[in-house]
Amino acid sequence: MSEQKIEKLLDKMTITEQIGQLIQLSADAFQHGKAVISGPFVANHMSQEDMYNAGSVLGISGAKTVRDVQSDYLTHSRLHIPLLFMADVVHGYETIYPIPLALGATFNPELAKQTAAMAARESSAGGVHVTFAPMVDLVRDPRWGRVMESTGEDPYLNAVMAEAQVAGFQGDDDTPDQQHIAACVKHFAAYGAPEGGKEYNTVDISEWRFREQYLPAYEAAVKAKSLLVMTSFNTLFGVPATANQKLMRDILRRELDFHGVLISDWAAIAELIKHGVAGSLREAADKALSAGVDIDMMSFAYARYLAEAADLSPELTRLIRQSAKRVLVLKDTLGLFDDPFRGLNEEIEAKELSSSANRAVALKAAEESLVLLKNQGNVLPLSHSTRIALVGPVASSNDLLGSWSWKGENAPMPTLESAFRSEFASVLVASGTDYHAITKSKFNAAIAAARQQDVIVALVGLPSSESGESSSLTDLQLPAEQRQLLKALRDLNKPLIVVVVSGRPHVLGEVNDWADGLIYALFPGTMGAPAIAKLLSGAVSPSGHLPMSLPRSVGQIPVYYNHFNTGRPLTYTPTDDQDRYLSRYIDSPDTPLYPFGFGLSYADLVLTGCQIDRDTVTKDGQVRVTATVENRSEVPGTTVVQLYTRQMVGETVQPVQVQRAFKKVAVPANQSLKVEFVLSVAQLASVHLDMKRRVDLGEYQVMVGLDAANVLSTEFVVREVE
Ligand code: GLC
Repeated sequence: MSEQKIEKLLDKMTITEQIGQLIQLSADAFQHGKAVISGPFVANHMSQEDMYNAGSVLGISGAKTVRDVQSDYLTHSRLHIPLLFMADVVHGYETIYPIPLALGATFNPELAKQTAAMAARESSAGGVHVTFAPMVDLVRDPRWGRVMESTGEDPYLNAVMAEAQVAGFQGDDDTPDQQHIAACVKHFAAYGAPEGGKEYNTVDISEWRFREQYLPAYEAAVKAKSLLVMTSFNTLFGVPATANQKLMRDILRRELDFHGVLISDWAAIAELIKHGVAGSLREAADKALSAGVDIDMMSFAYARYLAEAADLSPELTRLIRQSAKRVLVLKDTLGLFDDPFRGLNEEIEAKELSSSANRAVALKAAEESLVLLKNQGNVLPLSHSTRIALVGPVASSNDLLGSWSWKGENAPMPTLESAFRSEFASVLVASGTDYHAITKSKFNAAIAAARQQDVIVALVGLPSSESGESSSLTDLQLPAEQRQLLKALRDLNKPLIVVVVSGRPHVLGEVNDWADGLIYALFPGTMGAPAIAKLLSGAVSPSGHLPMSLPRSVGQIPVYYNHFNTGRPLTYTPTDDQDRYLSRYIDSPDTPLYPFGFGLSYADLVLTGCQIDRDTVTKDGQVRVTATVENRSEVPGTTVVQLYTRQMVGETVQPVQVQRAFKKVAVPANQSLKVEFVLSVAQLASVHLDMKRRVDLGEYQVMVGLDAANVLSTEFVVREVE
């Protein structure tokens, strides 16, 4: 539909109908194919007519259900404006791929794009038009349960993954075809930096830091043409994001040139009252609309305009029309005016859902997301004939999907027992403990199984229900019951392989010491079980790398690689009291237990060289950096070569490292590989006190590493003229 036609349609719409396009209702508004007035809708004075006037709904999916609701809805729509269906297809629809934090661990954006495209195919066949993903909030505090939804602590990795996921969901442009869906990048902005890691808590960072480290991933998603953006619950620069004109109008719409639909998070407009920036629902609505929020997700603030539409100011009337237009344009972009049932297809749905092709993608992603942290004495991989005792709460729960796993529970999932039986001749399963409770009988059964077998594989961690939204923790250790079991297993003096299955980094402490083999499995999804079993048998070689630093203690948080140097950096291990006046803790090493970017292979891969093709370069130039990786073993291995830079002097302080590029490479046995990076000087731009990004002249360090901590470096100078 042309813009003129949309304008003509708007001219025909009453103000009430225009406001209707700005209202999003939850799934329970439409039951058995019809609008149902219940609970919150009655309490918010919604009539049946109002319900049918709402422009979108979240949480309904399934070809038949969507067809029934859309068909009934259109009979009540005077101007035949179709209903828009949105859902949280965050890491899969029915086939669930690894949680986004695990996707980050793959360091494989092409694979991330594939998984999103798979989810788009499954969900569009199921009638979904928009997904509330990707979530690209930078995260540095694993106390916050939603770190699972992000791809981690690095602005660059997050930006690369954001772009890949938007392209996967939407197709390579901003007009999704019938096999793709609209992306909604979230949560704008900086929701991942709540004080204390406490859910929904205050975010208070400087604009300079926001622009330098938190904004890039959102910017990448908008550049990749994400059709929607979702506001975040938190405050930023002293104002809740949902009413924040600076954030929404100045930065998002003007600077990032975003013209799509801005939707609030659930009830976030009404929450402006609790935040203390609005005295009434009406004022909350005015503030959100003035900030440019187009759709009100379930706060009824906009719906209340229905009651008071008579006295709207010309400015608010203009804003309402502008927002309604953006919603109509989105519906038109998705082809809904031509076909209100676009994409929806029972036959394709039946074929697509959990298809072997989709499961193959989910398996590959799960395999590549697993991070090998420790392999003492090359205890791994295990031979097929190894007799395994499979213990720990996850061995029996098989809770591998993680939070926000849409319809994942509907799909039959390979269990850990079945997967291990496919890889090993003898497997005994005895969980030994629940996640937070232990019984003598269970405990004794696990010890007995361990005594009987050669190797103990302990699958520990937290359940999906203790991950995701409203799951903040003050204690990141594994539960005491699980540590009690692990200690007893350690005392048996048999090879102990620990697999941590969770949605966040934990404080591993003595578990790290007890484990001979240690693997981090951030909820790996539907195919997580075969991925873990294949990794332990060597059918698959580990290639995951940490997307977040693993802290030694909660006291260390936030601990992340791209920190500033401070005036008293701890660049060595203090030897005596003379050194006490340094930036450090006196009760703990300063480094994380495992650094960002860390991950082992079964091969012995060593970085042996870092060359640069020039030592001076102009601002419009580029440098070529060549890293050499040697495989000093008889088996092939895959690793992630990371390229970091450091600006030695700037107008503001500069991080000691900033990742600029990475390459995931396979290195054949007993061979070495040269990995070349082309680094354009423009990539080195940093935010200045005037809040503008530009490149500074001067000295830069360039580092290559297989993780952020162990790097080889060289330097170059950016000059006006070479
Ligand atoms: C939730 C989340 C958001 C999600 C929305 C709809 O509260 O914050 O990420 O997309 O509500 O479920």
